[in-house]
Amino acid sequence: METWWRQTALGDWHADAGACPPGHGLGADGKAGRCPQSYGLLGSRRSSPKGADPEGLPGALRPGGDNGRVPEPLLTLTAVPFVPEIRLWLADETTGLWDATGGGYRTDQPPPFWAFAWAGGVGLARFVLDHPTAVRGLRVLDLGAGSGIVAIAAARAGAAAVVAADTDPDAEPAIHRNAVANDVPVAVRVGDPLLDDAVDTDVILIGDMFYSPPIVNRLMRYLRRAQAANPSIRILASDPNRGYLTPDRFEELAAYQVPVRPALEETSSMTATVWQLRPRPH
Ligand SMILES: C[S@@+](CC[C@H](N)C(=O)[O-])C[C@H]1O[C@@H](n2cnc3c(N)ncnc32)[C@H](O)[C@@H]1O
Repeated sequence: METWWRQTALGDWHADAGACPPGHGLGADGKAGRCPQSYGLLGSRRSSPKGADPEGLPGALRPGGDNGRVPEPLLTLTAVPFVPEIRLWLADETTGLWDATGGGYRTDQPPPFWAFAWAGGVGLARFVLDHPTAVRGLRVLDLGAGSGIVAIAAARAGAAAVVAADTDPDAEPAIHRNAVANDVPVAVRVGDPLLDDAVDTDVILIGDMFYSPPIVNRLMRYLRRAQAANPSIRILASDPNRGYLTPDRFEELAAYQVPVRPALEETSSMTATVWQLRPRPH
C-alpha cells in the first residue's frame, strides 16, 4: 500500500489521506490512504495536477520496515549528472525514492533528501563551479544542504570555509561521507538555522529549498535578517520553478536545463534558475 505524506508548518512529515485526489481517501482500516505515485515528492506549480496538495509536497511512500532510512548498501558513489566533477553517495539510479527505502520508511521521519541531488542543488553547484569568484576566499553557508552537493561545489571552487546546515540529523553523516569522497573540507551543522540569528558569513547558498510556503516564509525572513546583519552578504538560491520563489525579490543570474529523476519529479529534466537576492528594501 502507498501512503500520502505531507509536511506540516512545523516541518514534520505525516500521512495525509486528505492530500489524495478523489477516490483515494482513507483506507478501510482508517489509516493509510492509497494514492497514485504521480505527483513527485516536492511537486511544482508548473506540473502539479488539479487537486494536488496546495503546498506542493505530497509524495507516495511505502510504509513499514524497520529503520526508516535508505540503507547504505543502496547508495552508490555516482558522478552527478550535469556536475560530473562532484561524486556523491546517492540512492541507486534504478530505484525510485520509495523503493530505495527498502520498505523501511517510518512515519516520524522526513524523506531522505540527502540521498538525492535535487535539481536546484545541481544547478547551483554548476553555477558555483563555473563562477568560482562567487565564493573563492569567502565563508560560505549552504542552507538546506541535503547531500551537501552545493557545499562541496563551494569548497571545490575555493571557498575559505564551508558550513553545510540541515535539519535532518541523517544529513550529517551523508555530507561527511560525500565531502570525503570529494576530498574537500565541509563542516556540518544539524539543527534549524532559520530559528536563529543570522549566521556571520559572506555567502549563503540555497539549493532547492523553495518548495513549501511555510519553509519559504521562514527562509525569506532569515535571509532578510542576514542582509540586515551584513549588508554586503551575497545570497544565491537555485530553484527549479517549484512555484514559491518570488522572482521580483531576486535577480536572475543563470538558468540550466538539468537532468532529474523521473521517479522523483515526473519528468526527465527541469530548468534550474540561479537567483541572487536583491538588497534589502529600505
Ligand atoms: C530538496 S532538499 C535540497 C537538498 C540539496 N540542497 C540539493 O539541492 O540537493 C531540501 C533540504 O532542505 C532541508 N531543510 C528543510 N527545512 C530546513 C531548515 N529549516 N533548515 C535547514 N534545512 C532545512 C531538508 O532537510 C532537505 O535536506
